[in-house]
Amino acid sequence: MAPVKFTRKEIEARNHREEAAIIIDNVVYNVTEFMEDHPGGVDVLLNNAGKDASQCFADVGHSDIAMEWREKFVIGEVVDEERWPEVKRVVQEPPPAEPFSLTSLLNVWGPPLVLAGLATLVYTYLFPTA
Ligand code: HEM
Repeated sequence: MAPVKFTRKEIEARNHREEAAIIIDNVVYNVTEFMEDHPGGVDVLLNNAGKDASQCFADVGHSDIAMEWREKFVIGEVVDEERWPEVKRVVQEPPPAEPFSLTSLLNVWGPPLVLAGLATLVYTYLFPTA
């Protein structure tokens, strides 16, 4: 079935607690019921209600779970002549693991080993065995 099409003007009025819709990448979501359950809070959705929230949604770096979840709230799309370019999602890559090296080993174990050596020297100086 063809999706329901909305103009951006039509969405603008849905900007309050009783009726809230947002646009993300030209898809229209009804977030009225979802607002209370939103892990990011009610306010951020309410502030963006009636507007295009593509940039905000992408900036937060929403997880795949969020992407799946939002499908439940789709009510239509923006009319063809008012479509905007999609905003790329920032996928947060974990930093690459540091390869094992002598330098990293020394960085971790160097200071405690030096301290232990010094303590041994001081001890043998203070309490020399006969
Ligand atoms: C239907 C649309 C949306 C869904 C289903 C959704 C879902 C979620 C989920 C599941 C999280 C928890 C973190 C994660 O798993 O990514 C989250 C966090 C958050 N969301 Fe949304 N969200 C939606 C729209 C938005 C929009 C439009 C904004 C901004 C305008 C927004 C701002 C935030 C913020 C600020 C957090 C908290 C991030 C943090 O604590 O680090 N969300 N959202």
